[in-house]
Amino acid sequence: MKMKYAIYAAIAVIAFLGFRYLGTEEQNAPTEGAAMISVTVPELVASEKLGERLFNGNCAACHGKNAAGIEGTAPPLIHRVYEPGHHGDEAFQIAAKRGVRAHHWKFGNMPPVEGISRDDVAKIIKYVRAVQRANGI
Ligand code: HEC
Repeated sequence: MKMKYAIYAAIAVIAFLGFRYLGTEEQNAPTEGAAMISVTVPELVASEKLGERLFNGNCAACHGKNAAGIEGTAPPLIHRVYEPGHHGDEAFQIAAKRGVRAHHWKFGNMPPVEGISRDDVAKIIKYVRAVQRANGI
């Protein structure tokens, strides 16, 4: 008789742990539209703030607030792939001017950003590099 209770108890414990596991799985699944990484935002100097404003107006709809990426839309630019040694400033200029054929991720292509000047992109780069530095990139 005691043995029977022990088995019931064991089943209850396994079921409980199993449900807990399923619960965390669900929480960890990427949510469409969510930020992809958490970004430390540094104190920005005036010129970088200007870049932030331009970024928010032209890039954040896809690359997310603080360039943290958006699940299902576009990657974070605060990412090792985009460190200056991998994607120099000119890569940002070309991305804005001509768009990007999808190659690093599965989000699809980036279209050219209409009506943005080289000068504006240079300001955006200053901002992105400042945030990258603050995040060890
Ligand atoms: C319509 C959505 C969209 C907008 C708006 C957008 N991007 Fe992108 N961008 C993407 C996607 C998607 C990729 C990833 C392509 C890939 O798979 O490598 C990307 C990639 C990039 C890359 C990597 C280029 C390379 O050579 O691999 C840079 C740099 C970049 N974007 C900068 C910007 C900047 C700066 C802006 C604003 C001026 C901007 N993006 C606006 C969607 C967007």
